Amino acid sequence: MKAMTGAEVIKKYNIPVPRYTSYPPANLFSDKYTGDDYRRDILESNRVGSRALSFYIHIPFCKNICHFCACNRILLPSDSGAVATYIDYLHREFDLVRPLLDPSRPITQVHFGGGSPTAISLDYIGEVIQMLTDSFAPAPQAEIAIEVHPGFLTYRDWDRLIEMPFTRYSIGLQDLHTDVLKMAGRIPPRVPVGEVIGAIHDAGKRVNLDFVYGLPGQSVGSFEDNIAQALEMHPDRLVTFSYAHVPWLHPGQKILEQYGLPAAEVKQAMYDRAARMMTAAGYVQIGLDHFVLPDDPLAVALQKHSLHRNFQGYCPRDISGQVYGLGVTGIAQLHDAYAQNIKTLPEYYSAIDRGQLPTHVGYKLSREECLARDLITDLMCNYRTAPLRHAASYGLELKSLADLPILDSVRLEEMIRDGLVEVEGETLVMNPEYHPFVRNVASCFDIHYSPDAPRGYSRPI
Ligand SMILES: C[S@@+](CC[C@H](N)C(=O)[O-])C[C@H]1O[C@@H](n2cnc3c(N)ncnc32)[C@H](O)[C@@H]1O
Ligand code: SF4
Repeated sequence: MKAMTGAEVIKKYNIPVPRYTSYPPANLFSDKYTGDDYRRDILESNRVGSRALSFYIHIPFCKNICHFCACNRILLPSDSGAVATYIDYLHREFDLVRPLLDPSRPITQVHFGGGSPTAISLDYIGEVIQMLTDSFAPAPQAEIAIEVHPGFLTYRDWDRLIEMPFTRYSIGLQDLHTDVLKMAGRIPPRVPVGEVIGAIHDAGKRVNLDFVYGLPGQSVGSFEDNIAQALEMHPDRLVTFSYAHVPWLHPGQKILEQYGLPAAEVKQAMYDRAARMMTAAGYVQIGLDHFVLPDDPLAVALQKHSLHRNFQGYCPRDISGQVYGLGVTGIAQLHDAYAQNIKTLPEYYSAIDRGQLPTHVGYKLSREECLARDLITDLMCNYRTAPLRHAASYGLELKSLADLPILDSVRLEEMIRDGLVEVEGETLVMNPEYHPFVRNVASCFDIHYSPDAPRGYSRPI
């Protein structure tokens, strides 16, 4: 039978489907999962799953709140003791977690996110790195990354930051035009970013630049100019986030409505044009929004079909450890569990004062959910997956794909007939023409998804 045409595929499959940035999605996390559950799961994580340790450190403070922001952040208090207190509680939280972890496990990833980790004294950041590496040895290929808001950093701050043991700097540019930044309530970089990138490269380290498309004042032409300027600076990675307008969660975003947000088609055109420019300049596309140089570990991993994604972002599978989150709202991602910390500072502090792990919500995955997560992650990162091999790693020796207990085989067979995905031996491989529909194929393994009740999801295109 002849496969469908491109237009027919778009018409049929451009329907709401989950984004699969995690599986199961965070909206299933529940407060039935407690600090005691997390304690048990940390102990278990020494025996089951990756031995590698990946630490996520959340620094919630920002010197200025941008109107578009959808992150977990708070305005930096004027009281200088407030940051010292937070860092003290980070140490105390780590003192609760550290004794539960096998001290022989290596650190492969540390990520400082926020908020703006660089809004606080770099001495504190150095102290936290020291705290981690005094207890666990970093692996030779360990990645230590930090999110950097360049708005407040002087030449001297950058010198200091580049001397620190970071291997990658993730600089939030968002846009390079003064009018767009002004409407977004965002402070522009204090030091020319091209110079900073040169200094980071001279130190033998990597840098990525974050942009957001869909902000007021942006047009296809102005976003094109952002990317053209960024390409001139030769960053190792470029990330283009689609602006998420969620004023019911972040009421501050309503301010942007007075200026008018670009229409969906304009937003799509901004992305398409930017993606074409970056790929024409030799960058390799990773997932939907990352573009990296061909020698980047992410591009190499994609080539070897071993790209992975966790809450720290994309990474080669061999450095992806189990993630332990520290700090307010920090998320842990263990072999078969998620745990998210309490969201407000007073409650976070008081849990630690009581000697409790400050877990707010979490989720324990069943064996079937673990298998579904592995297949979905593999598909989303590498556009292919070998279901029977993954099933065998969970003790399920199956003869054929049809025996897979989590599979919606009727929908998958239909997608195979329609040409979205092909079967090569025991491997399912996405048709490159239909990569944007990888979420549809992934949904065939999602035991929580029903095509009849797809409320609240976005469409692939
Ligand atoms: C924790 S923030 C960045 C760190 C730092 N505070 C900064 O602003 O540069 C991580 C990234 O999330 C992205 N982001 C924030 N709000 C967003 C939104 N509403 N939609 C899409 N991306 C968003 C921005 O690109 C930002 O660089
Ligand atoms: S975008 Fe960055 S600097 Fe701006 S409020 Fe959000 S976390 Fe803070």
